[in-house]
Amino acid sequence: MIEGFAVPDFVSDFWHYYIAIITAVGILFSLWLLKSQSVVKKLAPGEEAELMHPVWDGDLQELNNPLPNWWRWMFFLLTVFAIVYLVIFPGMGKYPGTLGWSSGKEWQDEKARVDAEFDKVFQPFAGMDMMAVAADPTAKKMGEHLFLTYCSQCHGSSGQGGSGFPNLTDNQWLFGGTPDDIKNSIAGGRVAEMPGGLAGDEQGAKEVANYVLSLGGKPHDATLASVGKEKYAACAGCHGEDGKGMAAAGFPSIVDDAWQYGGTEAAITESIVKGRKGGMPAQLELLGENKVHLLSAYIWGLGGGQQPAPAEPEVAPEVAAEPVAEPATPEAAPATM
Ligand code: HEC
Ligand code: HEC
Repeated sequence: MIEGFAVPDFVSDFWHYYIAIITAVGILFSLWLLKSQSVVKKLAPGEEAELMHPVWDGDLQELNNPLPNWWRWMFFLLTVFAIVYLVIFPGMGKYPGTLGWSSGKEWQDEKARVDAEFDKVFQPFAGMDMMAVAADPTAKKMGEHLFLTYCSQCHGSSGQGGSGFPNLTDNQWLFGGTPDDIKNSIAGGRVAEMPGGLAGDEQGAKEVANYVLSLGGKPHDATLASVGKEKYAACAGCHGEDGKGMAAAGFPSIVDDAWQYGGTEAAITESIVKGRKGGMPAQLELLGENKVHLLSAYIWGLGGGQQPAPAEPEVAPEVAAEPVAEPATPEAAPATM
């Protein structure tokens, strides 16, 4: 993205020449026009300036006089200005200008300046444990502001989600709810994809939808569900035989009450017919590490945050690389009581 600004905007060199030539011809035309209008026609004593035709509005007429000097000079200076401008700034096709200025770079410099300013505010929390950040009232306020600015369009002002956008305040997670999971979701973005048409036509989808409702213990049509049961085989690979999904792999539970796209028969049928593909845009490059850290803590603290997995017992890499005949894990020792 950063390098993106250096890439010329033209897809082919044709446009570079096209623009450069039109610009150059425009300037030459201006100079020619200027010259053609500069011939001062001396009026002989007694001679009157020629009257132009036609006549407007009954009696408005124009005299054929040369341009006044101030006007000619202004025009001339403007043309010189245009040439100087085109030498130092971009304008002639992809020629970047001697200053190397670009609006993208200007924006970047500005952003870097503002970021540096703000980083001072975020810095105290940067190295802090996310759960500690979540408990800090100041950090929470900042997280809330960031959330309202960058996330609320999709996830709602309080993170409650909406159709197609997951609720971030409950403890149902598509991609896991530990501090690290949440941070990875935000920093790197997420795409969960379910292909459409897995249950055949609309009718088939409706049958499976009723089976899904039955799995979740919800009101359903038992006849349709019994037909749908067989077709559910196409779903079990991702959502599990029991419909509970596999959160770690991004396959949501379809038997709980946390629906991303809706839990009515119609909504589930639509999910099955069309397939679903949610896209969470990656934020790290846009917001930077410090803001992502604050936001992750804020989301974690919204109510659904899960405790981090207990740390793996530390094993030095050299030791781990050695082939170990009998790993002495705690599970290996049978419990005696
Ligand atoms: C363009 C819309 C959009 C924006 C903006 C957006 N998100 Fe998301 N987000 C989504 C979608 C859609 C998903 C679910 C992805 C999927 O279904 O594959 C998601 C998923 C997530 C998840 C994972 C939820 C889970 O259940 O595991 C987190 C955390 C998250 N977003 C946080 C944020 C934060 C914080 C921001 C602001 C920096 C943000 N999102 C901005 C659309 C968005
Ligand atoms: C390849 C794996 C895969 C298969 C097979 C699959 N799904 Fe999904 N399903 C997903 C993923 C991933 C999502 C989440 C999509 C998203 O977040 O945008 C999803 C979402 C859904 C949803 C929406 C859940 C919500 O919260 O709104 C329903 C309903 C659903 N699947 C039902 C089914 C049924 C029924 C079948 C079988 C016909 C099926 N799926 C087959 C991966 C799969």
